[in-house]
Amino acid sequence: MSRFWKPGTEKPRLVEDEEGGVLFFAASQSSSSSSGYGYASLEKQRQRLPVYKYRTAILYLVETHATTVVVGETGSGKTTQIPQQYLMKRVQYLKEAGWAEGGRMIACTQPRRLAVQSVAARVSEEMGVRLGEEVGYTIRFEDITNPELTRIKFLTDGVLLREMMDDPLLSKYSVIMVDEAHERSLSTDILLGLLKKIQRRRPELRLVISSATIEAKSMASFFTARRHGRNDEEHGPKKEPAILSVEGRGFNVEISYVEEPVSDYIRAAVSTVISINDGEPMGDILVFLTGQDDIDAAIQLLTEDSDSRKKGLIVLPLYSGLTRADQDLVFTPTPRGKRKVIISTNIAETSLTLEGVVYVVDCGFSKQVFYNPVADIENLVVAPISRASARQRAGRAGRVRPGKCYRLYTEEYFMNEMPADGIPEMQRANLVSCVIQLKALGIDNILGFDWPSSPSPESLIRALEVLYSLGVIDDDVKLTSPTGFQVAEIPLDPMLSKMILASNDYGCSEEIITIAAVLSVQSIWFSVRGAQKESDEAKLRFAAAEGDHVTFLNVYKGFIGSGKSSNWCHKNHVNFHAMKKVEEIRQQLRRVAQRLGIALKSCEGDTQVVRKAITAGFFANACRLEAFSHNGMYKTMRGSQEVYIHPSSVLFRVNPKWIIFHSIVSTDRQYMRNVISIDPSWLREAAPQFYQQQTINPRPL
Ligand code: CDP
Ligand code: MG
Repeated sequence: MSRFWKPGTEKPRLVEDEEGGVLFFAASQSSSSSSGYGYASLEKQRQRLPVYKYRTAILYLVETHATTVVVGETGSGKTTQIPQQYLMKRVQYLKEAGWAEGGRMIACTQPRRLAVQSVAARVSEEMGVRLGEEVGYTIRFEDITNPELTRIKFLTDGVLLREMMDDPLLSKYSVIMVDEAHERSLSTDILLGLLKKIQRRRPELRLVISSATIEAKSMASFFTARRHGRNDEEHGPKKEPAILSVEGRGFNVEISYVEEPVSDYIRAAVSTVISINDGEPMGDILVFLTGQDDIDAAIQLLTEDSDSRKKGLIVLPLYSGLTRADQDLVFTPTPRGKRKVIISTNIAETSLTLEGVVYVVDCGFSKQVFYNPVADIENLVVAPISRASARQRAGRAGRVRPGKCYRLYTEEYFMNEMPADGIPEMQRANLVSCVIQLKALGIDNILGFDWPSSPSPESLIRALEVLYSLGVIDDDVKLTSPTGFQVAEIPLDPMLSKMILASNDYGCSEEIITIAAVLSVQSIWFSVRGAQKESDEAKLRFAAAEGDHVTFLNVYKGFIGSGKSSNWCHKNHVNFHAMKKVEEIRQQLRRVAQRLGIALKSCEGDTQVVRKAITAGFFANACRLEAFSHNGMYKTMRGSQEVYIHPSSVLFRVNPKWIIFHSIVSTDRQYMRNVISIDPSWLREAAPQFYQQQTINPRPL
């Protein structure tokens, strides 16, 4: 324990304006409000938001410019206020002026689903309307809108991209606000590239790009650069984007660092929370960890023994995939005399505003996806955040009064080793989904596409190779008909979509759709730290020798057999909410399948055809157990990468010779999650060009 620095043992230094950054504004209000951060009426709260002062300016700029970039600190009211109040007025104006036909909508995109749900709920509450009527939201597999009534629609950028397949010019919308643009998610970047094209065809469309950090200039120059000399008409909105900086109102945040690097950031975070609770005045604590597993572990540590020092703490998780009720708890005002501890993923960095946070504990990491085109492996890795992110996280402590941020890394590391900015996802993700989406939208020259930041040619070529092997694109790099178009139509990754299409040939679409649905939720298992043994035993009841995918089928069968009972789930360590979601997704996928002419059919327990259908989609993820390997080392067929079966898999330690994995996570090793055993001859059957005869002649094992 002594290795961890404890708040209070070292005098924190005030770090202001690091490296000339402008994130920590001097307090404009006195700190006399520190005794209470009461919750004002909704209307009062709204008027106090920085965006309020700029409402006429925003309206004017949006009116006169094709693109407006709005930059402002998290919590200034960008997401909740701009669409509802000011832009609603504008739609009214447009209608009166006869510019837009009635019924056009305002879209506001978010990279994260949880943020979509949360801000939509908040805006409908502020407007006093029922969620799903004037204000609605759409995320994948969940559409809470009403075509007649909805005027403001929150949605993920991925969903908006999908909408373009039916409505390429997004003609339903008069204004599109691309929010959280600084995150540079893959879908946001694709969307920005496409919106720039749409603007040329729809001069009346207005874009609002909103961002938490100072990405404004690069965003603005992206929308300024014109590749063609067209569109220089004198009338109409100004093409040059407007930039508006919404003045922040954050308070100073004192920053302290650990003196020595910590080896276990979960324990360090927990002991920091306890020290804050012991030594600091009231105020909520926001802890940044990397994912659900970390968060569950920290909560377990914080709640497991009833140490009196932890009295008065309300410990809450925050990550995507929480139930609505759990989400609501996070936003519920803290009762007097209590202190909330919210343990969150990156989602609280800029996407959601939490009132009442005074202390931030930052572990310095987040889960990020990294694709290596040479090894042909996409990894989910716990990786260092950037200094820009670290500043954002610290800023979350200064919303209601001066706050404190405890960084679980050294100052030396922050200054000299932490990267200044994050890398756009476009440059570190597998581009298979991206390429198929652009192809489906008729973008032929993908290499020459006008990207906000270009992906590497290697990644693009790899993606094209995989799509070619999946039979989705042809020799001319065009979508094949019908396979390519069908794969693009299914709202899943191309490999999952191809698996569903293949299930038609193998007569097992019901089973494959169940598997696809399970793979679309976070986890169907209920994990409780400390109860690992019980949970493993429960898993064994369903375990199938063929692997995890078939195990899912057993769980699903049990769940249906129990009459979808929550009691049954509880007894079997199965996550009831996840299973309900699986059931919902399943029904939607069945409808999509029927639309594509796939016969809904069960193979009645023939697991071989199920595995063949999986192979038809995931052949690129095939691995072989290394000869003479005593520690379960596999090598991927394509890149010869060392990989291991994840301990949570039913095939852990079973180690069949040939397997296919669904995804890879990296910790100390590269672990394969959700694996299934296969026969190598199926690989050739599924993708003859991909697997040459000689590469899969099994070596003696
Ligand atoms: O988008 P930006 O970060 O600029 O701010 P926002 O999300 O529009 O939040 C503006 C205000 O609404 C903040 O004071 C939030 O606390 C509040 N809000 C809330 O109370 N509950 C939500 N679900 C969302 C926002
Ligand atoms: Mg926002």
